[in-house]
Amino acid sequence: MTDAAAGRHAPPVRRTAVVTGAASGLGQVMAEHLAATGHDVAVCDVVPCTETAERVRAHGRRAATAIADVSSPEDVAAFAATGHEELGPVGVLVNNVGVSPYRPFLEIGLDEWRSVMRVNLDGLLLVTQAFLPDMVDAGAGRVVCMTSSVVWDPQSTEMTHYATSKAGVWGFTRSLAGEVGRHGVTVNCIAPGLVRTPLLQERVPPERWAATASRQAVPRTLEPADLLVALDYLLSDAASAVTGTTVPVNGGRVWL
Ligand SMILES: NC(=O)c1ccc[n+]([C@@H]2O[C@H](COP(=O)([O-])OP(=O)(O)OC[C@H]3O[C@@H](n4cnc5c(N)ncnc54)[C@H](O)[C@@H]3O)[C@@H](O)[C@H]2O)c1
Repeated sequence: MTDAAAGRHAPPVRRTAVVTGAASGLGQVMAEHLAATGHDVAVCDVVPCTETAERVRAHGRRAATAIADVSSPEDVAAFAATGHEELGPVGVLVNNVGVSPYRPFLEIGLDEWRSVMRVNLDGLLLVTQAFLPDMVDAGAGRVVCMTSSVVWDPQSTEMTHYATSKAGVWGFTRSLAGEVGRHGVTVNCIAPGLVRTPLLQERVPPERWAATASRQAVPRTLEPADLLVALDYLLSDAASAVTGTTVPVNGGRVWL
């Protein structure tokens, strides 16, 4: 395949990545995978990312870590300073943080509603503004945001605030893609179905795992590693014309 046929019109994407919310769950798995595929990785979380950093370094890559709440301008500025000082400019940003409290709609208080929006949406603004200039300057970059298949699913209950925020993630992605495509930066979403992470394994009762799997074309519980193919695709140099879109990884979840 020629370079032109592969869509390689932009410079190669710099192999320095940022992953938010990487102390556990999908963020940790994606950070380790990024290291395994040749990236240095800066990670942040509200709890220490010590284990994630060890996993990154075990692949011979550099890691920078910070304790940072993505909805705090001060924390994000400090994280960006650490990341830039230790790793230099970044080419890849994975906006992974998301909180998803289960609550029946009529019981959602304004405080909880606002806290979901603050973490899931304010975080996108602050972290992306902190790292996007590196990509624009380089003329190449990849921003990947985590939305959710619940946005499409009228059978997902007790997640109105979460689903609302994740629809916002999708809108953010499409709109930003329109603004930065001319600079060689793509912005896309991954929309997981219900994926077995350590925290969800504790929170979600067995019947909900089974019920979700039974509504999938591929009727098995999804694992974090299932998402990595979507990440690889969106980050590849050959995907420089894939932007403003959402890649679902949900086992072909269906709803009536
Ligand atoms: N696991 C799933 O089934 C699933 C499905 C659809 C979408 N998603 C999305 O994928 C992303 C990762 O999901 P997960 O299941 O791995 O989540 P998780 O809860 O297992 O991990 C999220 C991490 O983010 C951290 N975090 C929480 N608030 C933070 C904040 N304000 N600042 C910084 N870090 C913070 C947590 O400490 C945790 O380590 C989220 O955006 C989630 O909404 C997950």
